[in-house]
Amino acid sequence: MRIVLGVAAGIAAYKACELLRLLTEAGHRVRVVPTPAALDFVGAATWAALSGQPVLTSPQESVHEVPHVRLGQEADLVIVAPATADLMARAAAGRSDDLLTATLLTARCPVIFAPAMHTEMWEHAATRANVATLRSRGCLVLDPASGRLTGPDSGPGRLPEPAELFSVVRRVLARGTAAMVPDLAGRTILVSAGGTREDLDPVRYLGNWSSGKQGYALARTAASRGATVTLVAANAELPDPAGARVIRVTSASQLRDAMLAEAGSADVIVMAAAVADFRPATRSPAKIKKSGGAPAPIELAENPDIVRDLVAARSRPGQLIVAFAAETGDVLANGRAKLTGKGCDLLVVNQVGNGLAFGTEDNEATVLGADGSQIKLPRAPKDEISDAIWDEVAARLG
Ligand code: PMT
Repeated sequence: MRIVLGVAAGIAAYKACELLRLLTEAGHRVRVVPTPAALDFVGAATWAALSGQPVLTSPQESVHEVPHVRLGQEADLVIVAPATADLMARAAAGRSDDLLTATLLTARCPVIFAPAMHTEMWEHAATRANVATLRSRGCLVLDPASGRLTGPDSGPGRLPEPAELFSVVRRVLARGTAAMVPDLAGRTILVSAGGTREDLDPVRYLGNWSSGKQGYALARTAASRGATVTLVAANAELPDPAGARVIRVTSASQLRDAMLAEAGSADVIVMAAAVADFRPATRSPAKIKKSGGAPAPIELAENPDIVRDLVAARSRPGQLIVAFAAETGDVLANGRAKLTGKGCDLLVVNQVGNGLAFGTEDNEATVLGADGSQIKLPRAPKDEISDAIWDEVAARLG
């Protein structure tokens, strides 16, 4: 695919080098179009070397090729990362002061802005209005990540991590303009991800192989579709999904507390986390030592079933609760039994074991409905599986 990577003048321009690498390694032909001021942060030689393409900043360069029209017309996707407050103001005003803004005017393909700026600039009424204008024209404007900014301050305004931006690009290329429709706007969505850890002693824990990738993909895609997303993440070492608020937990008990605390304001709850059914009955305050004899057995206590507790606590009218089931053997029969037992509205069954589902980039699943529906989701990247789950959710939200 032909991608234009626009780079505005922000310190986060260095992260766009990594995004460029991910895009070219995936086989895309990328033309980097920095603003003239962006070259103060990362020079043209770097962009040219990494993309293998010429780097222009002004419509007055290589005029015989009419780059200000051709680049936009020929692109399958434009992503501006970082998109500064100034760049978005100029794009919203329809200006064409440089090659990047001219390209934005001529592009008829999906356009993504990945903003990065200080929190005050992101929250300023002028920027909010410009973001709203760009969104109303069908552009996908990501929410920035929260965290450390250029100086000692921190808050919303960080450019999402390159891997995160790459996932967004891949999703938009796969879904086309459907990926840009904010059909979950106005909805509040709560997602859990990752695997809980249950302490045995100060050194060891009982855990599982969940990487968090499926739950993070659910959070990322819901945010891209306009939802207000809270992600409760258990022990996942992944970049924060663009636009989601992240609450970090370790154990099943902490996950339960966080989910119940957030559930009251959620229109949709999705439990993609792999929760330990059991925990050690006691946590040894000191490291358990070898005694020379047979090791002492570990006594287990059962954890509460969080999905069941969420169903029992449901007070918000129309709230949808979606569980997952990690199954082996007759996965559909097991999944159906779990759906009934937990009392949720939808249950996504995925087969695990033998390298499936846990830690993988792809997944394959069946969505079972309490209404008896059954939808097969063929093997696809976890973002695509997530979009298919949101399609089912959106249809039920009405
Ligand atoms: O994170 P990845 O590496 O991407 O892997 C994704 C995944 C395989 C973890 C994910 O797709 C998945 O299947 N998540 C659910 C795993 C699981 O715990 O399944 P389960 O069949 O044991 O539990 C059924 C449901 O009950 C789940 O929604 C689970 O979150 C929930 N549960 C389980 C135990 C418990 N005590 N309380 C719960 O609420």
